[in-house]
Amino acid sequence: MAKILSGKELARTMREEMKIELKELKKKHNVVPGLAVILIGDDPASISYIKEKEKACNNIGIFSREYRFPGHYQEAELLDLIKDLNQSPQIHGILVQLPLPEHINEEKVLYAINPEKDVDGFHPVNIGRMMIGAPCFLPCTPAGIQQLLLRNDIEISGKHVVIVGRSNIVGKPLAMMLLQKKPGANATVTVCHTRTKNMAEITRQADILIVAAGRPHTINAEMVSEGVVVIDVGMNRVEDKTKKKGYRLVGDVEFEAVSQKASAISPVPGGVGPMTITMLLHNTIQAAKTSAGIKN
Ligand code: GUN
Repeated sequence: MAKILSGKELARTMREEMKIELKELKKKHNVVPGLAVILIGDDPASISYIKEKEKACNNIGIFSREYRFPGHYQEAELLDLIKDLNQSPQIHGILVQLPLPEHINEEKVLYAINPEKDVDGFHPVNIGRMMIGAPCFLPCTPAGIQQLLLRNDIEISGKHVVIVGRSNIVGKPLAMMLLQKKPGANATVTVCHTRTKNMAEITRQADILIVAAGRPHTINAEMVSEGVVVIDVGMNRVEDKTKKKGYRLVGDVEFEAVSQKASAISPVPGGVGPMTITMLLHNTIQAAKTSAGIKN
């Protein structure tokens, strides 16, 4: 039976460590990190994500401010708000929840955030820095996956990592991170996507298989080899009348069958999800420390 890579447990441990660090920051330097979270529209998944983020901030002692606007909120107003937040001394991190409504240009909005406050790691400056291995904010989901592997003593160096999915938020940045000539990386990376031919042939070659396709049943037991480590990034809502909310969360991987062959596997929920938020907290603390001139 596969080892369960519990992001929930690791997130709890890391957040306890951060609580201690935050107390020290306050006591020694009078610094309280602050995060602004902006949501436009009323997408239920996005609302639930930002609530989780706010709860996590409050739990560990990060100041958080939520900005919620209706779907018809204008791009110019959003850009003005970001300009103000870029100047605000209480705010060290700015997060604009994606996806944005169609009438707002995502690229323009992400460019407007000061890269020093870009705790999502989505600004092209941070993406560029990551690409060349320079110090930067790492995007939260890929960073959370890397931590989940490292803190479970799973060797990445020299391993064949196969990533399924090429999004700007997960697949592409993760490939670049694991490719770096650095501790916790040095992998041989293959990225599969919707146009990949014979995907099962490639996924079967994986030592570590990371699935961020956004579609249930993307990976079944025939598509993996014995002993593979599987990270399931999927967060799909499927209708379930037996649940109070009317749905349940499932990943992209057929968990029951694949866990019979895998040596380790992350569950959904309780796998990557809590790690993403944990890395957001980490980045916000880093942003506050950098702005106060505090070294790590
Ligand atoms: N939408 C889905 N995942 C994310 C994320 O990590 N950050 C932001 N800002 N939006 C998202």
